Amino acid sequence: MMKESNEHHVSVEDQGYSAWLGYPPLPQGRLQEQYVKWCGAVSVTEADDTVQAALAEWNKGIVAMLAIQVQADQELSTGALRVAIGTFGGGNTLIRSVFKEADIRKVEREGFAIRTSADHNCIAVGAASPVGVLYGVFHLLRLLGTLQEIEELDVTVNPVNGLRMINHWDNFDGSVERGYAGRSFFYENNRFTGDMGRIRDYARLMSSTGINAIAINNVNVHALETLFISEYLPEVASIADVFRLYGIRLFLSVNFAGPMHEGEVGTADPLDPGVRSWWQRKAADIYQAIPDFGGFVVKADSENRPGPFTYGRDHADGANMLAEALEPYGGIVIWRCFVYNCKQDWRDRKTDRARAAYDHFKPLDGKFKDNVILQIKNGPMDFQVREPVSPLFGALERTNQVIEFQIAQEYTGQQRHVCYLVPQWKEVLEFNTNAKGEASPVKHIVDGSLWGNRYSGIAAVSNVGNDLNWTGHLLAQANLYGYGRLAWNPELSAEEIAGEWIALTFGQDPTTAAVISRILLDSWEIYESYTAPLGVGWMINPEHHYGPNVDGYEYSQWGTYHYADNCGIGVDRTVQSGTGYSSQYIGSNAARYDSLEECPDELLLFFHHVPYTHVLHSGKTVIQHIYDTHFAGAERAEELLALWGSLQGSLREDLYVQVEERLQGQAAHAKEWRDQINTYFFRKSGIMDASQRTIY
Ligand code: GCU
Repeated sequence: MMKESNEHHVSVEDQGYSAWLGYPPLPQGRLQEQYVKWCGAVSVTEADDTVQAALAEWNKGIVAMLAIQVQADQELSTGALRVAIGTFGGGNTLIRSVFKEADIRKVEREGFAIRTSADHNCIAVGAASPVGVLYGVFHLLRLLGTLQEIEELDVTVNPVNGLRMINHWDNFDGSVERGYAGRSFFYENNRFTGDMGRIRDYARLMSSTGINAIAINNVNVHALETLFISEYLPEVASIADVFRLYGIRLFLSVNFAGPMHEGEVGTADPLDPGVRSWWQRKAADIYQAIPDFGGFVVKADSENRPGPFTYGRDHADGANMLAEALEPYGGIVIWRCFVYNCKQDWRDRKTDRARAAYDHFKPLDGKFKDNVILQIKNGPMDFQVREPVSPLFGALERTNQVIEFQIAQEYTGQQRHVCYLVPQWKEVLEFNTNAKGEASPVKHIVDGSLWGNRYSGIAAVSNVGNDLNWTGHLLAQANLYGYGRLAWNPELSAEEIAGEWIALTFGQDPTTAAVISRILLDSWEIYESYTAPLGVGWMINPEHHYGPNVDGYEYSQWGTYHYADNCGIGVDRTVQSGTGYSSQYIGSNAARYDSLEECPDELLLFFHHVPYTHVLHSGKTVIQHIYDTHFAGAERAEELLALWGSLQGSLREDLYVQVEERLQGQAAHAKEWRDQINTYFFRKSGIMDASQRTIY
């Protein structure tokens, strides 16, 4: 059992457990004096559990950052400075006096306002709801932790995305599918761990970044996990109770064939009345136990999961049936679009897995109930280091949708390599789909503003486990933090987010910040350069997906995913001679990807099959690009280690050492990538490296 969370607090044994809520002490000086002046007392009048959680967090942060005790308001003389926190309707006279009706109108349900009021001698954090208060307190703590002025604050902040979700791929046996940070802290050995201290700390971390929804079990739902909605409801409810304190709604992944598993109904046909009433009964039971239950996440008809296709029904039939069951309670169905036939034979060079999501779901646009949301992976394939944006974004005008990212680094180094993914996610969110004229970026589809959707937002596969530092690689915490911040506000830059995370985790030293920021911001490009060139992807070992294996991917029974032979490499997805996938994009995007001349270099091999001697926009041939990037990538991986080494002595030893060890592993593994990839393509192509470096 994990000890009480505060025992981990910034001690040398911490190992990164408190993550970005460790509240490192702030340096002495003008700002610290300013904070001490304002933050010595707090005014709170509400007993609400979430407001109290906000207060507890405030006290914890102030004690740790400023080394002062926070006085309760009542003990103060009237003129003294203080921080006031509360809901607009919660009876705190300071909150009521500082915020006028016009201010209050601007704050949405999860938003907050913060104002420094000289008239009332306070910094007021006001919100429409208790969770807004909590978000406001986390915001103010973050301002302190990143050394911002607080004497003239006047902000109203609302989250940009409605649903800001984490998907766990945790199994009841305690394993985590694609988990790289130990085992599950929810389950072990087909039991609930009951580790509420850890679960609460997890909820704190998530809430501090703005996460408001968590699905606690794997999308691949096995036999025992189907019982989460029946036998194990009390245990699930106890997790929901903890999440609720922090404004997080609990979701469950469900098995589409659930009715058959429990042996009560002989079919899972979504149009069968027995099946419908089975799900309705389950929904009633669930909401009895968890009144604010979020809803279901569903993976159907994909990678051997059951689904409506078995009964000749489509995915709208399937999703709507579940949506009908949840509707009376305000629940939603999150239906994944990761639907493809992993056994399909593509030797005709027309059949193309990349086409699958669009081909399945575009025809269903407008057929889903109002409380169904489609969850679409960011790319058409599967979280590769580089893929184009899924063409489903832009294609669905009358359907609620969320984008799905993968924080877990399945194909991006499995949390043994550093790969800060926020820049990748930013690129996806900024991609202009052309769906509704000039400015139709993905971010405006997922925030619901482009089509005016009822539900929208962002989901991502979690990268946490029961490792003491949550994410295995300490620097992978930046992805978890960054994901939440980006889901809250996609306008934040990758640099800003990195800067926040570094300050909150490691403290205020500018040299440290510059080094870590550089490591993070370069890391995606470095990882890409020694692994997958020019958008090719999939050159990994089968099943576990770690390490180089050019022809390795498990679904390569019909040939490799990249069509490399003696003459060339890449997948022809053009309209004229290929799979026609490029036509799933709109307007200039379709034209650009379809054209060999215009296709951006980084996606060339995703869209075109070319000879090794094809000359890129960069002026290099494809083969020389492969050699050069792999040599440079391995070298740069080595440099990351040296950069980190420059921090020795200025960082906490427990944090320094663990990252150093991972970076050593990465530098060695990057060489293996370099050698395997270069050798493979040297042998295939027979073309020498122009710089005559040794290729093994
Ligand atoms: C990938 C991953 C699987 C996962 C699947 C999904 O294929 O390797 O482990 O189940 O994505 O997103 O459903």
